[in-house]
Amino acid sequence: MTAAYIPGERAIAGVATPLKLSSNESPHGPGARALEAYARAAGEIFRYPSSAQDELRRAVAEVHRLDPARLIFGNGSDEVIQMLTRAFVGPGDEVILSEHCFLMAKVHALAQGAKVLVAPEPDYNTSVDEILKRLTPRTRLVTIASPNNPCGRHLPGTELKRLHSGLPENVILLVDAAYSEYATADDYDNGTTLATQAANVMMTRTFSKLYGLAALRVGWGYAAPEIIQALEHLRSPFNVNGAAQAAAAAAVRDREHAAHVRAYNERERTRLTQGLRALGITVVPSSANFILLLFSEGPRNASAAQAHLLAHGIIPRPVGGSPANSLRITLGLESDNDAVLRALRSFATG
Ligand SMILES: Cc1ncc(COP(=O)(O)O)c(C=O)c1O
Repeated sequence: MTAAYIPGERAIAGVATPLKLSSNESPHGPGARALEAYARAAGEIFRYPSSAQDELRRAVAEVHRLDPARLIFGNGSDEVIQMLTRAFVGPGDEVILSEHCFLMAKVHALAQGAKVLVAPEPDYNTSVDEILKRLTPRTRLVTIASPNNPCGRHLPGTELKRLHSGLPENVILLVDAAYSEYATADDYDNGTTLATQAANVMMTRTFSKLYGLAALRVGWGYAAPEIIQALEHLRSPFNVNGAAQAAAAAAVRDREHAAHVRAYNERERTRLTQGLRALGITVVPSSANFILLLFSEGPRNASAAQAHLLAHGIIPRPVGGSPANSLRITLGLESDNDAVLRALRSFATG
């Protein structure tokens, strides 16, 4: 049996308002337009939500210039990944997961009775060769996250294409792009083009991160109509609640808020990465809203860094030894990141 998903810690005993940097939530929260839509939806909570998710579908399709018929929405992208796995994976099938993808992808595959093969990420990033060498005639699904988690690295577009070209047509490629909005590198490709052109690719996205709506649980998938229809057969009719649909539709239309958060995140990512490197701490280059810190063996290892941060009221995310001796820290507001720098300066030099 696989380990159950362990959410990020949210409290420190004796600390009234800890700095929670453990779940890659947006420190900016949602924009004003999403909050207004959510408040308006309060007047409608006696009604069932739209099962076709019309307004949300229209909003995502318009903003991202996608065919609305190729979209499916879920209670978080987690549910979309679960529906994809339920629709296409069964007992005896094999699922290849790139090492640093979302843990729930593994949970859902095992729940279907599939065999899970993990493709190592030697350079903290998806390795196309490690995935392709694990293909067998039983492979049904290949899952990568780009940017991946907890490393924050993105797979260059050329590599994504090479991965897809190496897969037989009956193998589905899931590109989990939960952190897509934060990736600013020129060679980043979130899989939209592949999912438009190929019959066997799904891209998933979420409102939990950049849009600041983690508590409402909204995510979406984009794929060929045949894949979408297979998932629609499994979808509960009211899987995304009405207030969540309304807030998410307003959030995706609020391009200003999204652009502000994206630019802020990029600035702070560079500043915190450089500041920590100046302290001698190794930071994996990130394309996401978090960074992965690598520590050495000995007294200044990852557990000691975690204890030190907690003692300073800061909650990082331990990553269970994968990668070894590392800690993940979500980027916060400028003042939050200053607090991280101060705490880790006293850790590194104390
Ligand atoms: C890589 C990755 N994919 C998917 C998810 C799921 O996000 P949600 O279910 O909130 O949309 C997460 C959440 O942390 C994640 O880190």
